[in-house]
Amino acid sequence: MSKIAYVNGRYLPHAEATVHVEDRGYQFSDGVYEVCEVARGSLIDMTRHLNRLDRSLRELRIAWPMHRSALEIVLREVVRMNGVRDGLVYLQVTRGVARRDHVFPASTTRPAMVVTAKRIDPETVARRAASGVKVITVPENRWERVDIKSVGLLPNVLAKQQAKEAGAQEAWFVDPEGKVTEGGSTNAWIVDEAGKLVTRPADFGILRGITRTTVLDVAAKLGLTVEERPFSVEEAKRAREAFITSATSIVMPVVAIDGHPVANGHPGSVALSLREAFFDIAEKTKA
Ligand code: PDD
Repeated sequence: MSKIAYVNGRYLPHAEATVHVEDRGYQFSDGVYEVCEVARGSLIDMTRHLNRLDRSLRELRIAWPMHRSALEIVLREVVRMNGVRDGLVYLQVTRGVARRDHVFPASTTRPAMVVTAKRIDPETVARRAASGVKVITVPENRWERVDIKSVGLLPNVLAKQQAKEAGAQEAWFVDPEGKVTEGGSTNAWIVDEAGKLVTRPADFGILRGITRTTVLDVAAKLGLTVEERPFSVEEAKRAREAFITSATSIVMPVVAIDGHPVANGHPGSVALSLREAFFDIAEKTKA
């Protein structure tokens, strides 16, 4: 079955799914995106993802490309048309197509929207969670507005490539105070020496991950103590557990930081129980 993408009002085979050379996303990274997980035929936490999209669009003063309810239909349609039962759906909105000029184009310029979906084998992800992943640390070099889910991801691309070349799966950005901000495409967590779940507050310096928000709900349900505070690389290396969260990895145990094993070098039980309970609590919308 050929893959189908939604591009500015049309459902097209991938070979024909193209955007204009003067799309401002292509020329200026002038756009935002969302990645929503699909599990067992349902979109996970779609409401929260679209609430964050609304915030990102507002912060950049880009209009919604269509009514929210119509956009929900497009997301579900692309998932269905691609036969995705487990995987993800990607949505990108840019300020649209206009002759290249840094300042905003005329207010009549229509935002451009692209939606794609892809399958991910849940068994592969489950195997990765059973063995855990390695992370490296890199200096924080991104702009201050990483709370906006913009398509400007060059530092993230470079950091994740560096991780891959070092035999790791994620890079943690570290601020000038030695505190972890977040991963290249994930939020960072530890279970500290006292057994508390620790993750950086989301009001500054990180993206407010949807998975992070739902994991906070899961932690409350499981009666776990959570502290939203920054933690250092040194503290993470001494921690009982470490893990990362995102729509693509849900809760993924971290077993090594810069080559240093976390605890006994195996996935921790708190991370695995959060992973296990996640889908009972997350919102599910049938595709
Ligand atoms: N990334 N931090 C960054 C920098 C991210 O890019 C992401 C998500 C997260 C986690 O957010 P969420 O839980 O809403 O997925 C944190 C997506 C998956 C990506 O870029 O592919």
